[in-house]
Amino acid sequence: ISKIGVLTSGGDAPGMNAAIRAVVRTCAYHNIKCMGIYRGFEGMIEGDISEMGPRFVKNIVNKGGTILKSARSKEFMTAEGRKKAYENLKANGIDALVIIGGDGSFTGGMVFNKEFGFPIMGIPGTIDNDIFGTSFTLGYDTALNTVVEAIDKIRDTANSHNRLFFVEVMGRDAGHIALNAGIGAGAEEILIPEEDLGLDRLLESLRRSKLSGKSSSIVVVSEGDKIGKNVFELKDYVEENMPEYDVRVSVLGHMQRGGSPSCFDRVLASRLGVKAVESLLEGKSNYMVGLISDKIVLTPLEQAVKGQSKIDEELLRVSDIMST
Ligand code: F6P
Repeated sequence: ISKIGVLTSGGDAPGMNAAIRAVVRTCAYHNIKCMGIYRGFEGMIEGDISEMGPRFVKNIVNKGGTILKSARSKEFMTAEGRKKAYENLKANGIDALVIIGGDGSFTGGMVFNKEFGFPIMGIPGTIDNDIFGTSFTLGYDTALNTVVEAIDKIRDTANSHNRLFFVEVMGRDAGHIALNAGIGAGAEEILIPEEDLGLDRLLESLRRSKLSGKSSSIVVVSEGDKIGKNVFELKDYVEENMPEYDVRVSVLGHMQRGGSPSCFDRVLASRLGVKAVESLLEGKSNYMVGLISDKIVLTPLEQAVKGQSKIDEELLRVSDIMST
C-alpha cells in the first residue's frame, strides 16, 4: 500500500476532523501518500479527490464538522456508481480506503470491498453511538456535553416558571444520547426507543413528581422513541390530562452535531486514526477500529453493522432512582 484515501460520510460528528488529521499524519509518518475524498462516496464517484500532506491538516484538531464535507450518496447504492468510484480510486493511485462514518457508510464500504476486493477500514463517526464494536463513537462525547449544557440552561428557565419541558434530542434509532445526557442533566423522565415507557406511566410519573414537591420537570425525549407521540403531541396530551402543568417544548436539533470536539473525542480520533492506517498497512481489511475497555480493537465491519449497541440496564436503573 502506497496511497490511502480517506473520506467522511453520513451525518457529520465532532472529532471527524481530528480523525482526518490522524489518518493524514499516520500516512506521512509511514512515508505513504494520503488522498482526501470530498463529500463521502459522492466525491469518490465524481473524482473530487486531492492530496493532503501533514501541514494540510494543521489547526483542525479542535474544529467541528468535517473539512472533507459529508454526504449520503444514493448513486453509490447502484453498481454503476460504485464502478465509477472504483475507477476514480484507481486513476488516483489509491489502494486502500479509510471510511469515517456510521453503519450506512460501513455497509457501502462492505459492498464495495466485496465487488472490487478493495481494502477498507472503518472509523466509527456518529453522535448517536449506535455502532457495535466500540464503547464510544466519535462525536458522541461532545454531543453529550452539548446536550447537557443546553438542558442546564433550559432547567434555569423551567424552574423560574414552574414549567415542565419536553426536550427532544437526536438519536435516530438509539437512546444513548437521551439516556446519558438525561442522567447527566438530572431529567425526571427519559424516553428512549429501547424502552417504551407508555403514556400512562409517563402521566403517573409526572403526577408522582408533582406530589413529591417538584416545581419544575425536564423530560428528555429521544427522537426515535416509541411512545407514539412526538414532543408537540406529548405537550398537548399532558396539558389535556394534567392541566396543573404548564408545558413547553424544546427541540435541540442539529446544534447537537456541531461545535469543537471534547478532549475525549480528539484523543479517541487520534488513536482510531493511527490504528486504522497501521492496520491497513499490516494487510488487514474490512474491519472497524473501536475502543473497548480503553483498548483499541478491530471488529469485522459486518459485525459492527449488524451487532446491536445495547443500552446498559444499569443506566436505566440509575435514571429511575435519580428521579425519586
Ligand atoms: O445519525 C446522526 C443523526 O444526527 C441522527 O441522530 C439524526 O436522526 C440524523 O442524523 C439527522 O440527519 P440529517 O442531518 O440528514 O437531518
